[in-house]
Amino acid sequence: MSRGAADGGRPGVDSVRAGYVEHGVRGYYARHGDDYRNPHEDAIGEAIALADGRRPLPAGRVLDLACGSGEATLALATLDGERIFVGCDPYTGDAWRARVPHPLLELDFTAIAAGALQPHGPFDLIVCSFALHLAERSRLPGLLWALSRVGAELLVLSPHKRPAIDVGFEQIDAFVHRRVRVRRFVAR
Ligand SMILES: C[S@@+](CC[C@H](N)C(=O)[O-])C[C@H]1O[C@@H](n2cnc3c(N)ncnc32)[C@H](O)[C@@H]1O
Repeated sequence: MSRGAADGGRPGVDSVRAGYVEHGVRGYYARHGDDYRNPHEDAIGEAIALADGRRPLPAGRVLDLACGSGEATLALATLDGERIFVGCDPYTGDAWRARVPHPLLELDFTAIAAGALQPHGPFDLIVCSFALHLAERSRLPGLLWALSRVGAELLVLSPHKRPAIDVGFEQIDAFVHRRVRVRRFVAR
């Protein structure tokens, strides 16, 4: 697999896509998760700051769902407000711990859809950056419903319009910044 020279030898966007094709999403992150960094981290940080500027994001307990190496958490930590962060990702533990001093739940979307987050909630905000589109489409309604039972708000950042979020949440804001699509929801 080719490596992204501009990113210190880490996989670039094209090689990540090729990795998904070669190994499947799960197989790709099982192999590369501990080395994960998002090449769009600057844009993600700016987009989160813009979302907060449009309407302050909730303080309190924050779950960073499919947290990678903490891209969204590190951006949220720069904003005003007292926040307690919890990461959640089954594959990127070493990458998270290398940059973020907060606890990690190693749960995947299937376990969350089955209610595994329930004992860890409630959360004032769930943020999911560049990951919700990776959930299997058939699992998405159950996953969204389970998230809406433990999170008061959901902030989704993604490189495109997927996935549609039509269970458990109502959209309250949406915009695009540097090709990062930001959507904000409240639990119904
Ligand atoms: C493109 S990365 C995004 C990471 C980080 N949130 C960011 O903004 O850079 C996708 C993340 O989804 C996680 N992931 C992949 N499949 C998953 C699954 N089935 N359940 C939970 N997380 C999963 C990966 O481990 C990875 O951290």
